[in-house]
Amino acid sequence: MTSAYPALMQAGQIGQLQLKNRIVMAPMGSNFAEADGFCGERIQAYYEARAKGGVGLLTMGVCSVAYPAGTAEPFQVGVSRDDFIPGLKALADRVHRHGGKIAMQLQHAGKTATRDLAEGREMWVPSMPPAGKSDFLSALTQEEMSTFVGGMGRTRPKIRVMDQADIEQMIEYFAAAAARAQAAGFDGVEIHAAHTYILAGFLSPYYNKREDAYGGSLENRARLMMETIAAVKQRTGGDFPVWVRLDGEEMRTPGGITVADFVGAAQLAVKAGAQAISVSAYATITSGSAFTEAPLAQKPNAFVDYARALKGAVDVPVICAGRIEAEDANSAIEKGDYAFVAMARKLLADPELPIKIAQNRVKDIRPCIYCYACVSQIFINERVKCAVNAETGHEYAGALAPAAKPGHVVVVGGGPGGMEAARVAALRGHRVTLMERSERLGGTLFFAALAYPENGRLLDYLVAQMQHPNITIQLGVTATAASLKALGADAVIVASGALRSAPDITGALQTHVWSGDELRRLMTNDGADAIAQSKLNFGERLLFKAGGVLKVTDSQTALKNLSKLWMPLGKRVVIIGGGLVGLELAEFLIDRDRQVTVLEPSDKPGRELSIVRRWRVLEAVETHGTLQRSAVVNEITGDAVKWTDSEGNPQSSAADSVVLALGAGPDTSLADALTAEGLSVHSVGDCLALGYIEGAMRDGHRVASTI
Ligand SMILES: Cc1cc2nc3c(=O)[nH]c(=O)nc-3n(C[C@H](O)[C@H](O)[C@H](O)COP(=O)(O)O)c2cc1C
Repeated sequence: MTSAYPALMQAGQIGQLQLKNRIVMAPMGSNFAEADGFCGERIQAYYEARAKGGVGLLTMGVCSVAYPAGTAEPFQVGVSRDDFIPGLKALADRVHRHGGKIAMQLQHAGKTATRDLAEGREMWVPSMPPAGKSDFLSALTQEEMSTFVGGMGRTRPKIRVMDQADIEQMIEYFAAAAARAQAAGFDGVEIHAAHTYILAGFLSPYYNKREDAYGGSLENRARLMMETIAAVKQRTGGDFPVWVRLDGEEMRTPGGITVADFVGAAQLAVKAGAQAISVSAYATITSGSAFTEAPLAQKPNAFVDYARALKGAVDVPVICAGRIEAEDANSAIEKGDYAFVAMARKLLADPELPIKIAQNRVKDIRPCIYCYACVSQIFINERVKCAVNAETGHEYAGALAPAAKPGHVVVVGGGPGGMEAARVAALRGHRVTLMERSERLGGTLFFAALAYPENGRLLDYLVAQMQHPNITIQLGVTATAASLKALGADAVIVASGALRSAPDITGALQTHVWSGDELRRLMTNDGADAIAQSKLNFGERLLFKAGGVLKVTDSQTALKNLSKLWMPLGKRVVIIGGGLVGLELAEFLIDRDRQVTVLEPSDKPGRELSIVRRWRVLEAVETHGTLQRSAVVNEITGDAVKWTDSEGNPQSSAADSVVLALGAGPDTSLADALTAEGLSVHSVGDCLALGYIEGAMRDGHRVASTI
């Protein structure tokens, strides 16, 4: 079979390390180790699943060389003592069993070692860190604040500016840890010299103000990194593969690492013995969107220019990260922009991405939707999770087992929860009928894809999975107890979505006022004619029909058509409700030149969004639109929304169109009615409890993997 992306699938080499393809699993702190730094079943099974999925090289993220000192996560991997070796060895063995290779990323978090802060240890730094200023923490809820990494802001940090003895100790930490990685059977080590951790701190002219041989010129700032590389090489013997991860740039950091510094540091690293350069970047979190600039880029191919800057400057392979899709990686590798692609989030979403590429099954790759649910967990000291892959972090529970008694499962509702349930039930050997009331699969996900196009990729993936021979789809069908009984359903999975009741606001029934549900139904042709008749004028109706939105089956084209005629909404839009739906819609409309005001009743908008995505969306809406917190809406008039601010003052926001984005809640009515008729019913998704895409995917998977 020819692979979809041959350049990506060709073999590669780092030093003596032979790799079967060019896909590297980027280092990720996962919080999957045990509380004492040991590698237990959870983390072993997690890496094993990715090795099985065919990735050329796995990198185990942030393994702590001085554990528990210098750590930032409560369940970080320790490599600071010999008793860590057996767990590490068991993990490496499980990777090797599948023909995989694994490197260990060695790390000391330096000034970011929030666990040192929380546990009263000194934080090791090159020099006193400059005082930073940012207000990104204000977006957090109280519960999130209470668990935020290391309880930032609650404890006064004890800072230790490293002296010569500390520098020697640090080098020894890294060298000894590398020797343990080697003893445990790891295939190489990546020295973490990025992301403001200790070695990056020395490299950065912003954080390093030393006046000795380790500060000042680039050579001096790179000295600790070079001595570390040399010591690691020396301790592990010449052939053991060793490389470094560097920041292509330290963004939003006055006087931080520049591209020229990066190129120079890469050359010095190679001189000291590094056999590859792994390219990342960092942006100081000065505001909400910084973290989505780097290291967890929102922009595709965000760090490729840094990799290109190394062309001709170093003669070792370059590994590049930064939201790189397989297709882009294939052509970049072909062109020689870099030798290996490092993928992080995509391999949380689908550990089998490499195998699916090799087998030319690209449409079966479960896509990352860049919702930042994974890394937001790290910010609140929780284990990583993935919104689209319920199995991530739970691999230890075992793979899907065939159904003990295959039967006929009827799924009611073709949103994400329903489709995920259908997919999993079919894979387990059940015969599945999926009934959807509208004429389009997707449910709320289709609507969510309008507001955040990344969601459309999940929609297309799920729709593609519905092609399974065990699944029959019925569109435009309303499920009743009688129809389900007539089908001979052994089990019914109700995934019929939330109830969106119109809020009791004076003026909410006018034609320029849209509920989220009306917009969704219009797009999915779920009673669309009646809505169009009552809410659209003649010209708009024609435009809507001419757009052929309802007939288009793939979400990309439908979305393109729709955004051309995102017609019902005028220039000035007021969105009532600043939750996930309201804010994502606001972001979407701002991008389409609307003047948007969001009126949120609470003082914590967007609490259903993951922390990192919330930062980004709030910044976009507050910079390019208006967000009013603690706004109590009193009335919608013909051209404005009247509301009261937190001080009780009456306010008014001009509006050509108004969208009601609140009032959603669970809806158990269908499940209750079917249960009363004696059917075996399971509920998943928003009809059970409001959980949006992540909740729906998790529920759908959970229920269908047990029936
Ligand atoms: C959950 C999570 C944890 C991460 N932890 C680390 C880490 O421990 N070390 C590191 O160098 N980068 C870390 N990163 C950054 C990734 O290695 C990668 O560079 C970044 O996510 C961009 O790649 P992507 O677009 O494929 O996700 C992490 C990313 C994620 C999503």
